[in-house]
Amino acid sequence: MPLSSHSSSASTSTLAERLNAGEAPRASDTLLINEQSRLREAGGERVIKFGFGQSPFPVFAPAVDALAIHAADKAYLPVQGLATTREAVASFHREVDGVDWQADEMLLAPGSKLLLFALMKALPADAEVLIPDPAWVSYAPQARMCHLATRRLPCSFESRWHVTAASLEAALADSSETGNRVRLLILNQPSNPTGLSMSHAEQAELAAVAQRHGLLVLSDEIYGVLDHDGSHRAFARDYPAGTVTTTGLSKWCGAGGWRFGAMHVPSALGEALFSRLLGIASETWSSVASPVQEAACVAYQRSPALDSYINRQREILAEVGQWAAEELTAAGIRTHAPNGGFYLYPDFEAHRETLAKRGITTGSELTQALLEECGVALLPGSAFGAPTERLTARLAYVDFDGDALLATSGPVMAHPGLENVRDGIQALTEFSRKLEGN
Ligand SMILES: Cc1ncc(COP(=O)(O)O)c(C=O)c1O
Repeated sequence: MPLSSHSSSASTSTLAERLNAGEAPRASDTLLINEQSRLREAGGERVIKFGFGQSPFPVFAPAVDALAIHAADKAYLPVQGLATTREAVASFHREVDGVDWQADEMLLAPGSKLLLFALMKALPADAEVLIPDPAWVSYAPQARMCHLATRRLPCSFESRWHVTAASLEAALADSSETGNRVRLLILNQPSNPTGLSMSHAEQAELAAVAQRHGLLVLSDEIYGVLDHDGSHRAFARDYPAGTVTTTGLSKWCGAGGWRFGAMHVPSALGEALFSRLLGIASETWSSVASPVQEAACVAYQRSPALDSYINRQREILAEVGQWAAEELTAAGIRTHAPNGGFYLYPDFEAHRETLAKRGITTGSELTQALLEECGVALLPGSAFGAPTERLTARLAYVDFDGDALLATSGPVMAHPGLENVRDGIQALTEFSRKLEGN
């Protein structure tokens, strides 16, 4: 007798009904703004794209050559990653960040995002994840997918949107924990969405609190190499035994689509944790693509060419970021000048009353208005865990031709390739000045 869904009783729901029961997830703010931008562009309107945080720069050319040479490599590689690639990543960060990483403490994956997820998945079921507000979009959904409890740590403009030693201490004092529960604190510097890093002194204080309370810290340092003046300080230097660090090629090497991430897990955290991580890797992604691992090996070899490739990116991002922050601040949109990466986190709170008169009371109403009135796409702070009513937005100042700019030297702001960034920032400052005029 053929198998059919009609063979069961009439009251039984179909497979599709069972799979689709419950509420459909709400479309994310990110998708929404991207869709609205697309529709506007399709209608012939100009949209300046400050919403999407992708590196504008080309991949380091010798790594591209290596990828081509290895395109026919087809074997599965070890789950942990090639020993040579792990050593290349560890030794790069030993040199650049002054950390004490060993190749056998490294795990590679198709992107650092999966490594963050794997770490959460490897935690005990009653672990709690502490996530700053604001923080990158994926931490909280990943924690939820791992069925872990999450808690937001509110940050403010005044503390440069950082969790401070005092605010962490207060959050931990509030909690009714007895001490046995694993608590994972997620940090990300330079930050997406703010572009900011703590001072070394602030970081040392925060690390001391984390250590005293026995927290596990996940330090997401995917933008570390893009610290604008090269002063990134790995959190692992201040709390070596309790810090897991993630990094990769997506930002400083312009290779987000290659999907290469690396995680350092200090051996002090024990063999069982590392075995669980390897188990998760083995049962899910198996290994990073072979040609990508070979290319990563080349990307992580220090050379004068690599240093100047990185330094020029830093110069460009620093100059554009400083300029944009100054322009916005001068126009009444308070914004901290960035320390690294390619984001700003402008705060329109000073315009709350005037905006409210126009019916704009939430971050996402604000970004909708900015898209409609200025033709500039930004993401609302709520996409990064901010309360919906907070009038902040994330601005990714990467709508420029990175290939062309990377080939230049000297000051960058006058370069014609920066037209979109200039026009976009100008449109925002005009918007603000008009509000001030009201
Ligand atoms: C803060 C942060 N962490 C992690 C990631 C994920 O990077 P990957 O491409 O290595 O998965 C991103 C990517 O946008 C990011 O902004």
